[in-house]
Amino acid sequence: MIIKPKIKGFFCITAHPHGCLENVRDQVEFSLKHKLGLGVGPKRVLVLGASTGYGLSSRITAAFSAGAETLGVYLERPPVNERTGSAGFYNSLAFSKLAEEKGINTVEVNGDAFSVECKRQVVEEAKKMGGQFDLIVYSLASPRRTDPSDGKTYKACLKPIGSVYKNKTLDTDREVVKEILIEPASEEEISSTQKVMGGEDWLIWTELLIKEDLLAHGCMNLSYSYIGPEVTRPIYRNGTIGKAKEHLESTSQIIRKMMLESCSGNAFVSVNKALVTQASSAIPVVPLYVSILYKIMREMNVHEGCIEQISRLFREKVFAGEVIPVDHFNRIRLDDLEMNPDIQNKIMDLWPKINSENLRVLTNFDEYQKEFLKLFGFGHEKIDYSKEVNLQNPF
Ligand SMILES: NC(=O)c1ccc[n+]([C@@H]2O[C@H](COP(=O)([O-])OP(=O)(O)OC[C@H]3O[C@@H](n4cnc5c(N)ncnc54)[C@H](O)[C@@H]3O)[C@@H](O)[C@H]2O)c1
Repeated sequence: MIIKPKIKGFFCITAHPHGCLENVRDQVEFSLKHKLGLGVGPKRVLVLGASTGYGLSSRITAAFSAGAETLGVYLERPPVNERTGSAGFYNSLAFSKLAEEKGINTVEVNGDAFSVECKRQVVEEAKKMGGQFDLIVYSLASPRRTDPSDGKTYKACLKPIGSVYKNKTLDTDREVVKEILIEPASEEEISSTQKVMGGEDWLIWTELLIKEDLLAHGCMNLSYSYIGPEVTRPIYRNGTIGKAKEHLESTSQIIRKMMLESCSGNAFVSVNKALVTQASSAIPVVPLYVSILYKIMREMNVHEGCIEQISRLFREKVFAGEVIPVDHFNRIRLDDLEMNPDIQNKIMDLWPKINSENLRVLTNFDEYQKEFLKLFGFGHEKIDYSKEVNLQNPF
């Protein structure tokens, strides 16, 4: 079958397995060139949300910069007849193939990480792997969560809190800059978003891993957050998703104590940079902000993608063999370059000037579009997209 991108809003419903393989291979090559010091990196790692974005890069860094065996958990769609699998499905297949070639053990669990069944399967697989993890990465980004304790499905939403949000945004489909007006969230929407993207499930995972004696002495437990600039503040940090992130960050204090008491371990939230991922492209205003951010950070030669961010997190922060640098709220800051006042001031200068006509001149919207297609395996220079692909056995 010949696969073409089929974009629906902020999602692409097809994915190209060979492009996904090359994307993963690029990250693997980066990781092999940026190895961790001998004996300092993790040896057995559990990554929750391991198939795309920051979780995938965490898994690749652990495996190829530290040689760790990894258990990857994700919720991805396999191919069915003429329907392609999801990008994360092919990324994970690609990851396993490349790890196997290097003799690195990998275990896959494709299931709903919020469910009891998936948690049970992970425990079983972990025990078969030989037991204790020395690194846990919780990198789930999901639009909904069914809580097994009450059977209810909670939906996350991206809304402001308290007042209407009015700003410019980018309609990435129609390629126009327009005004957006979003009504504030109800109390129920605020608490639902926290149920999905807050710290509750991370805590449940941690309790389970402690109970099952699956944490090695000194185990590190990480999750990711975002703060972001003034222009996205009402919709992001002060909005429903920001409230959920605040909950995740405060839960990390409880988890830290549990880690310390159970295995002399530790837990941190790392605040990462805004990047084009499946999760971030769904957030209003963020695609426009990211298009400007990419332009400015590239001009200043400080641009990083997911793999560069996570490689820096592992090499310079978590596994540097020194005290981990944190801010006043005990968070690791990988968004230091993004939040540099020089960069933010340039964004604030540009923001009011941007319109549909000058979009490609004043921002890196071209790059945004390429990065978006890349998420689904399209636009890789090494791939001949006119060739037939076997969806079931692509590699
Ligand atoms: N993208 C950004 O700009 C950015 C910036 C800072 C922090 N973060 C944070 O990083 C984390 C990961 O985000 P991302 O942008 O890499 O997202 P992503 O959409 O690329 O990845 C989400 C992952 O979660 C998995 N997943 C979703 N629902 C699941 C479920 N029910 N069960 C099992 N797996 C499930 C997916 O399969 C995928 O592996 C989030 O906490 C996000 O807030 C993202």
